[in-house]
Order: sequence, then C-alpha cells, then structure tokens
Amino acid sequence: MAGRLDGRRAIVTGAASGIGKASAVLFADEGAKVLAVDLPGKGLEAPKGGYALEIDITDSDAPQRIIETAVGMLGGLDVLFNNAGVSGRWRVEEMTDEQWDRVQAVNVRAPFRIARAVIPELKKSAAGRIINTASVMAEVTDIGLAAYCASKAGVAGLTRTLALELGKFGITANYLLPGAIRTGMTSALWDERPDIAEIWAKKAALRRLGEPEDLARVALFLASDDARFVTGQGLAADGGLTLRC
Ligand SMILES: NC(=O)c1ccc[n+]([C@@H]2O[C@H](COP(=O)([O-])OP(=O)(O)OC[C@H]3O[C@@H](n4cnc5c(N)ncnc54)[C@H](O)[C@@H]3O)[C@@H](O)[C@H]2O)c1
Repeated sequence: MAGRLDGRRAIVTGAASGIGKASAVLFADEGAKVLAVDLPGKGLEAPKGGYALEIDITDSDAPQRIIETAVGMLGGLDVLFNNAGVSGRWRVEEMTDEQWDRVQAVNVRAPFRIARAVIPELKKSAAGRIINTASVMAEVTDIGLAAYCASKAGVAGLTRTLALELGKFGITANYLLPGAIRTGMTSALWDERPDIAEIWAKKAALRRLGEPEDLARVALFLASDDARFVTGQGLAADGGLTLRC
C-alpha cells in the first residue's frame, strides 16, 4: 500500500524520545526517508531506512550540520519537524538568566535557526513543510512556567510568520499544541507522583493522558498532502484539556 509520505525527505529533531521518536518511526513507516536528530548519549536510533545525527541543536554550527547531513544522506528536504524541547519550573522571582536563556535557546532560537537554514532546500521541494512543536502552554500557563510559556508563544509567532513569508513558495508552516503527553519530559514526575498524572488525565475531556503516537499522527497529517491547504495554524492535540476555563 502506498505510504502517505512516499518519496518525502524529513528531518525530525528530538527524535530519541517521546513525540519525536514516535514521529520519526511513523514518518518512516509511511514511506519518508528520515534524518533523526537528538543530543549525544540519548540512545538515538535511525528509523527504518533513515539516518541519525547526534548533535546539540543549540550549537552555533548545528543548523548547517543538520541541513548538510540531510542533503547528503536524503538528497534534499521536504519536511522539517522542529520538535526538540526542554521544560523547567522556576518562579519568575527565583529564575536565573541562565535558566531562562537555556529554555529560549532550545525551544525557540534553535528552531528559528534551523528553519532559516533549511528554507533554500524547502524552496526546491514540491511540498515543503515546516512543523514546529509548541504546547498548549503557548496559550495558557501554570505557576513556574514563564520561561516555557514564553518560548512556546514564541514558536507560535515564529510559525505564523514563516507561513506568511514562505507561502508563495508553496511551503506550509504549522505548529502543534500538545496537551499532557506521557513522554521523557513528563514520565519521571508522573511515575513518582501518579496523583499529578491523574489530575491531568481527569482535566482532559477524553479523560486520559496523551501518548506520543497521538501527536505523531497529527504531525503526519500536517506533513502529508492531506494538509496541503493548511498553513499558519496551531493544531491542539490535547484530548480537550483546554476546553474549560
Ligand atoms: N510531554 C508533554 O506533555 C508536552 C506538552 C506540550 C509540548 N511538548 C513539547 O513536545 C516536544 C517533544 O517533547 P516530548 O514531550 O516528546 O519530550 P521528550 O523529553 O521525550 O523528548 C524531547 C527530546 O528533545 C531532545 N532535546 C532536548 N534538548 C535538545 C538539544 N539541545 N538538542 C537536541 N535535542 C534536544 C531530548 O534529548 C529529547 O529526546 C517538546 O518541544 C515539548 O516542549 C510536550
């Protein structure tokens, strides 16, 4: 059976764990050639028929190395999935400059720099796609999440602007707003405090936590031809977490 991404070449960052790993696997299953990117020492694996690049996306030469590897290994690029991210909980009054800066560096500065570096290759594609992972925290908040929320609101603004600037080249740019998803980012706390996981699950209309594949399927939609007329949009995949005020 034909795959939904047959012939497509994709970069997925944060692909050693959680949403990125599930997406790299699903994209490859759907026929894409995938370059999986993550930090060294995280157990990153190349997805079926694809490649792996261990790198810190905040390194100054990371965007160049990522696009050079994609062009060298995949022969070009159709889909950039900027998904790697970090969180952190510090009240504003106690947060250091370094804590603030690291969250912005990983979550919004690196995706901007990687997107900028890949635009020339995406312009050559017949179906260029940028998908960025924001969060429901781009639109709401919680105590201690100022740095994270600011970074994810930044991802939303960056993506809308990319959509506007790149539409004339047939390139779409959209962002995901995941809710409470069981991944490397959340499972340590939730394993230790199942009561917290239960609160998040109960808050969602669907009464459960999200799984990485729930998000990978939305990323697949945005990467595929099904989303060819969708651009500049944030797609919440949160089980209805944010419906209630
Ligand atoms: N899990 C949730 O509930 C949730 C909710 C909303 C948004 N998100 C977002 O989803 C995205 C994926 O996170 P996840 O939940 O799958 O968590 P995760 O921790 O399982 O995966 C994130 C991956 O990003 C990688 N990464 C972090 N810093 C990096 C760097 N400097 N260079 C390269 N790779 C780096 C990590 O090593 C990790 O493998 C993130 O952007 C996160 O903010 C997650």
